[in-house]
Amino acid sequence: MKLAIIGGSLLKGLSNFITIAEEKINTPFGTPSGHFVTGMIDDIEVIYINRHGSEHHIAPHQINYKANMFVLKTLEVTDIIAITAVGGITEAMSPMKWVVPDQIIDYTHGRLQTYSDVNDTKVNHIDFSYPFDDALRNRIIAVLKNQACEHETQGTYGVTQGPRLETIAEIKRLHHDGCDIVGMTAMPEASLARELEMNYATLSLVVNWAAGKGSGELISMEEITQLIADGSETCEMIIKAVITAVE
Ligand code: HPA
Repeated sequence: MKLAIIGGSLLKGLSNFITIAEEKINTPFGTPSGHFVTGMIDDIEVIYINRHGSEHHIAPHQINYKANMFVLKTLEVTDIIAITAVGGITEAMSPMKWVVPDQIIDYTHGRLQTYSDVNDTKVNHIDFSYPFDDALRNRIIAVLKNQACEHETQGTYGVTQGPRLETIAEIKRLHHDGCDIVGMTAMPEASLARELEMNYATLSLVVNWAAGKGSGELISMEEITQLIADGSETCEMIIKAVITAVE
């Protein structure tokens, strides 16, 4: 197994990470989000990339997901854990809960979402019944249990286009559709990983109640930023434990 971690607003890097190489790699699909860092944690080689770039300047709809995932494949990554911050829709998904989603509904549009769009390539109709890899999910869940982190072991992740947050009516629709949490980045990351035959799972932290689900107040970016800051140390601890549990 060769593991990669995709960080976002929540996981801006890995401390105690002994960097071996830091590469800026171009692809036939354009420029990825930034440098790919190869490092060691307890003798285990891991690759880290932040999908929003090192300056957190790339919005969810502007991320070059195809380039990012292509580089991971080129680096012979087999397994990917992606960190995502999300809003909570259903009752159990309260702020500061960790969630390991098991399903996705994709509401994004206009994102380059497949490698099957090059003339003369065979169209790859991947099976996507189960968008996340269960072995990886179970590794994350085992750590969450061990570390007594408040968590949910399943949930449907609704992926919206962003960068704006949703209207109350949109969240009502997502709830009605069966979404438990809402975020902006799991797609097309998850399906591109599947096209490239890499295992993929996401660890989400709920950082706000989705629109209309909280106490009736507007969503405060300050509160989201605070919860992200509060969760980032724990996130790093969880990820390290997951990495070192990987043989
Ligand atoms: N909606 C979409 N994406 C998010 C949210 C939200 O409420 N919170 C964090 N990421």
